Amino acid sequence: MLVSAKEMLQKAREGKYAVGQFNINNLEWTKAVLLTAQEMKSPVILGVSEGAGKYMTGFGTVAAMVKAMIDELNITVPVALHLDHGTYDGCYKCIKAGFSSIMFDGSHYPIAENVEKTTELVHVAHQLGLSIEAEVGSIGGEEDGVVGMGECADPDECKQIADLGVDMLAAGIGNIHGKYPENWTGLSFETLAAVNEKVGDMPLVLHGGTGIPEDMIKKAISLGVAKINVNTECQLSFAAATREYIEAGKDQQGKGFDPRKLLAPGAEAIKATVREKIELFGSANKA
Ligand code: 13P
Repeated sequence: MLVSAKEMLQKAREGKYAVGQFNINNLEWTKAVLLTAQEMKSPVILGVSEGAGKYMTGFGTVAAMVKAMIDELNITVPVALHLDHGTYDGCYKCIKAGFSSIMFDGSHYPIAENVEKTTELVHVAHQLGLSIEAEVGSIGGEEDGVVGMGECADPDECKQIADLGVDMLAAGIGNIHGKYPENWTGLSFETLAAVNEKVGDMPLVLHGGTGIPEDMIKKAISLGVAKINVNTECQLSFAAATREYIEAGKDQQGKGFDPRKLLAPGAEAIKATVREKIELFGSANKA
């Protein structure tokens, strides 16, 4: 069932668990995430970056594939199709393509411009029944060419953006996209607690879910995080399983080169990672 992310995140925030956003790259990814969410009776968010959308030939292709797959696989758990780190133009493209949720990442604009653009997009998204995420304080690391330095968000600016009526808010708290470096100092729970206090019951979003230790994930959820984004970890699992298959020479045995066989271990590995995250985030049996 394709839905906006609003209700599933409000329920998560109230119930003190988080819904996973798993970024998709192709058919195998989408199928693996949808089947696992269904198996675990968990709501789920499919994240699509602008780069991944382009790779899949455009947001229209992505929306058509996701909708058809939900139907063909009889997926009954709530699924949101969400633009990840969207530009202003990207948001309009996804609205037109039939996404059920968008993220406008205006964190690199001066706050006044972030407010102005977010206000407009909140209005448009809500009129059409989509949910919308905004961001304050950039997320560190690099994702699809979007580079952030990982600064912590200003709680007053968070309140300013939250008051525009967004459905979820990503606040930088020292989190980074990709693997965390050895010298990473951890999440700033002081920032998270201050933001949480300012924004009332707004579902908060934790980007850079790959490699955050379990205790920090749990603490973040207790402080209002209701959506956690995971991308790199599924890519690493897929790559490791595929490498193992090829290094064992399995692609050269019988019809092992058939893409349906060659990509199967990777797809299973994505499922295992998604299963593990859904359990950790506490969203199993919440559909
Ligand atoms: P990771 O790649 O670190 O899991 O981050 C994903 C993310 O935050 C997508 O927006």
